[in-house]
Amino acid sequence: MTPRFSATAVAHSNIALIKYWGKLAILGNYPAVPSLSLTLDALYTRTQVTFDPLYAQDEFELDGERVLQRPLQRVSNVLDAIRSLSGLAHFAKVVSSNNFPTASGLASSASGFAALALAATHAAGLSLAPAAVSSIARACSASSARSIYGGWASLEVGADSANALDSGQNWDVTLIVAITDPEPKAIGSTEAMVHCADTSPFYPAWVETAPALFARAREALHRRDLDTLGQCMEESTWRMHATMLTAVPAVVYISPITLAIINEIRARRSASIPAYFTTDAGPHVKVLVLAKHAVAVRDWLTQVPGVTNVIVCKPGPAAYVEPHSAEGHSA
Ligand code: PMV
Repeated sequence: MTPRFSATAVAHSNIALIKYWGKLAILGNYPAVPSLSLTLDALYTRTQVTFDPLYAQDEFELDGERVLQRPLQRVSNVLDAIRSLSGLAHFAKVVSSNNFPTASGLASSASGFAALALAATHAAGLSLAPAAVSSIARACSASSARSIYGGWASLEVGADSANALDSGQNWDVTLIVAITDPEPKAIGSTEAMVHCADTSPFYPAWVETAPALFARAREALHRRDLDTLGQCMEESTWRMHATMLTAVPAVVYISPITLAIINEIRARRSASIPAYFTTDAGPHVKVLVLAKHAVAVRDWLTQVPGVTNVIVCKPGPAAYVEPHSAEGHSA
């Protein structure tokens, strides 16, 4: 029998408090701004990669459906990087599933490319340090570089890989995800951020002011200062969306329901229940609160008309290979 090389990995999604939005003007997909994120326990991608000499091309199946064209090309780009590192020449079959809606602003590309990079390196017999796997993932989706790590992670300007900042185990925070509309987004984040860089007069100000905001947030995280961290998150969110809304033509990911949720949080939060919002390349809203306030804030969110589901997330684990999933290697 011909040898197959297979492994399955799980990576959890991450949400940026300080946003990555924009690339350096060099090849290789390097971020133009620093970002800081929390990896989430409740949202994840599981991906099996099998290299097999009998395959005639790479194949990609996502949530039970065969995927072609650009998404398949992006998967092949990751596989090519791993083939050239490992010397394994076979094509691969990639079977992936998300436990949440794909491509709708819930960072499915973050968990997806992290799980792919980790599963594929193991399937190819490589046992790389997390930073090296993070770098492979980053080359395709910069936010996915952060999903290699559990808890709090950062990705600096021009960095090859993300950094682990804090495991998240010693500070009881939750990020509550209010899902508004499970439809995939109209324009992907890669295309949208390039469009903002090319056409928004606000983009240079975004890039210039991002490092100071990142430094303030990182310090606040260090001190476990939820108020400052939350305020930095909201500033980063609005500045990123300002580049979208001032692009030509504008890129509008927020919906009336997004704004209704934000208004609800602004109206109901107080010194006794601090709560801070963010939203990404999609209409959903994520709310940062201490775990002891999660039930109260979940109830606020559930009552907003148009919210279809609310998921309470705690800090999640680093990406991992499922035990006994590796085939074709002695390790
Ligand atoms: O890495 P990408 O291309 O999926 O871009 C992610 C962009 C945001 O989710 C909006 C922000 C971030 O830092 O995750």
